[in-house]
Amino acid sequence: MLNIRYDFNNLMAERVGDHGIGEAELKMLTPKLEAAANAIEKAPLGFRKLPYNTKLADEIAVLASEIQERADNFVVVGIGGSALGNIALHSALNHPEYNHLIRPPRRGPRLFVPDNVDPDRINGLLDAVDLEDTVFNVVTKSGGTAETMSEFLVFREALIKKLGNDRAVEHIVITTDPEKGELREIVKKFGYKSLPIPPDVGGRFSVLSAVGLLSAAVTGIDIHALLKGAAEMDEICKKSKKIWENPALTGAALHYLMDKAKGKNIQIMMPYSHALRDVADWFRQLWAESLGKSIDRSGRIVHTGQTPEKAVGTTDQHSVMQLYIEGPFDKVVTFLMVEDFRTTVTIPHAFEEYEAVKYLGGHTMNELINAEQRATELALTQSGKPNCAIRLKKVDERSVGALLYLLEMQTAYAGELFDINAFDQPGVELGKNFTYGLMGRKGYDAKRKEVEQGSKPNAKLVVQV
Ligand code: PA5
Repeated sequence: MLNIRYDFNNLMAERVGDHGIGEAELKMLTPKLEAAANAIEKAPLGFRKLPYNTKLADEIAVLASEIQERADNFVVVGIGGSALGNIALHSALNHPEYNHLIRPPRRGPRLFVPDNVDPDRINGLLDAVDLEDTVFNVVTKSGGTAETMSEFLVFREALIKKLGNDRAVEHIVITTDPEKGELREIVKKFGYKSLPIPPDVGGRFSVLSAVGLLSAAVTGIDIHALLKGAAEMDEICKKSKKIWENPALTGAALHYLMDKAKGKNIQIMMPYSHALRDVADWFRQLWAESLGKSIDRSGRIVHTGQTPEKAVGTTDQHSVMQLYIEGPFDKVVTFLMVEDFRTTVTIPHAFEEYEAVKYLGGHTMNELINAEQRATELALTQSGKPNCAIRLKKVDERSVGALLYLLEMQTAYAGELFDINAFDQPGVELGKNFTYGLMGRKGYDAKRKEVEQGSKPNAKLVVQV
């Protein structure tokens, strides 16, 4: 038993009135849902093979322990699907202050994921690490993303300056398509160590491939247990094509109805767990890039997609929650919760003559964070604001593998229901192509002209002070 509970009660009309889903709506969806489940079972989806690739996990574990022996710093150079999963795994499964520890429970080199090309960020990183003790993992499926490739060039040159050409090569591991792309050619020609990203696995579905597994293993995460949890969730999804049995299918169905039938076109993922905070960022990309599409599979213009957002409990109760409770009826909240935290903090008894603190003494912060979640959940529900909750018994490799996989499957089913291609990202590619044009990449001159013409400002509409 995985001990993951996906509770949909507060999405239903009995709890939130007209803003909730009724039996009739569910019934109407049944044939579409069956078709979606059948289509996903038949589709050759590359990400579904990842949990079973234990041979790759064995190879990565060997490479990771070799890196652990020689490196104090491990830098993942990637962006989007080549970075967000790494960050989510790291914050979920490593110590909250991992990089600040110098001995156990830190389990490997410090981890950095500079997923932006802000020059100050990049120079800041170079100030913080000794290149002698640093290994860079360049992760890019296409082998062409401007951010990743430019960082690769900068870090490579810094390594060469410090260590010389031959030793610099040993400080770089490249994760990319096994055959395609110029980066793969560079790997072959210059002898970099490398790992493959399966061609049929898109960036946002790649966390359980070499993309996410190497940095996880290097920082001491049990990647076999991670894959095991995902494989268990895969078996659960395979076993049933029915709502209320298959959690991913149920999540897809209810969020689809929330958006299409109830106008809730914003989904807030709200972890009440510091460890799970970056799962919400990872999910934002997964849900947004997969479902945000302008055309459906018949070529009709649809401009569809539910906007995923992130809020963190309890922190954001004191920032955005007022809006969620009393503002427009355009949102649905998905809570992430943990039953057993790894440690306990007991709140001491003190100042007992003061009521404002007296009641806290003797309770634990574990109780407090979950009480705050329950309170927020009820405040939302009473205000007619639909919400659901995914509760993990505990945050460990197995449960995190299962959770990420559950959300990937939910996204795949939702793609079927929205009738769009959940596995492409033409909008992202358009932006990439404009960047290539502006930066002078061969073959993208027309794109440069398009940007230059399209972005000429009307001076009257600019306030310059
Ligand atoms: O999910 C996706 O496909 C994208 O977000 C990519 O991961 C992102 O654009 C980076 O692409 P690449 O891995 O090719 O550098």
